[in-house]
Amino acid sequence: MKTILITGALGQIGTALTARLREKFGVDHVIATDIQRPENSTVVENGIFEYLDVTDQLAVEQLVEKYQIDTIIHLAALLSAVAEEKPQLAWELNMGGLMNALEVARIHDLKFFTPSSIGAFGPQTPKVQTPQVTLQRPTTMYGVTKVSGELLCDYYFQKFGVDTRSVRFPGLISYEALPGGGTTDYAVDIYYEALKKQAYTSFIDKGTYMDMMYMPDAVDAIIRLMEAPSENLIHRNAFNVSAMSVRPEDFEKAIQAHIPEFSLDFEVDPIRQAIAESWPNSIDTIQARKEWDFSPEYTLEKMTADMLEKLKEKSLS
Ligand code: SER
Repeated sequence: MKTILITGALGQIGTALTARLREKFGVDHVIATDIQRPENSTVVENGIFEYLDVTDQLAVEQLVEKYQIDTIIHLAALLSAVAEEKPQLAWELNMGGLMNALEVARIHDLKFFTPSSIGAFGPQTPKVQTPQVTLQRPTTMYGVTKVSGELLCDYYFQKFGVDTRSVRFPGLISYEALPGGGTTDYAVDIYYEALKKQAYTSFIDKGTYMDMMYMPDAVDAIIRLMEAPSENLIHRNAFNVSAMSVRPEDFEKAIQAHIPEFSLDFEVDPIRQAIAESWPNSIDTIQARKEWDFSPEYTLEKMTADMLEKLKEKSLS
């Protein structure tokens, strides 16, 4: 990895990853791209930013040539709840964009990363300690695109030797950019509302377990996996990663340790609840740990302390 093109750089992962890669590789070696052009964003202001519609393969290729890119980190995609509302757009963007990015990686011999998700599993998948290799029959459009994406990345690796790598991210919690339209978004909203109102109404029901991870661990996982020697990777697309398996009431308890008056109630959204119930309760990350030393640092308690502190600082600045 020397010069990296990031698609969807203004999204939740992209915002944190762009900043970290600029620090690590230098601002001239990270080309952040997105289909939006916001006025005040650190991604746009603190380095190179280009407009890019990933459904336009020629445009992707032109940027790769212009900046002599050697690695693509392809993040542009719709999340689970939005994809349920707009299934055709989700297919066109998630699959069309991925196919274009993979083709450009093949033609220009680029290293490649794109995230998969716990959404790539379905109701028939073993729910507890879901293994790395298991039954994947998702029942959401998002999941259909994620499983197809995993297969497509494997195909490009096996058939053309493109160095494709991926992880199945759980819900990601961060204080920089908000996630847009995911099922696990409650786990981010809860911190904002805890500080604002000392109360939160969860759209995911009590007792619903989902995997989660703090963004610094997610960014670290991407970098570690991309820097792992190819010969160490037995599995490819995509590795299970997670740092905790949690329910809404677990967040409540962790937040109450800092804000004792915090209270949680529930107004369940049937669409997102059904999605959550089709996903695993907890996934097994042993292969990621063994093959490229995945080792998340943040527990629920440590993440909660950091999240609340960072959000407080943000509200004061
Ligand atoms: N956080 C994502 C979502 O909820 C899962 O990959 O859609």
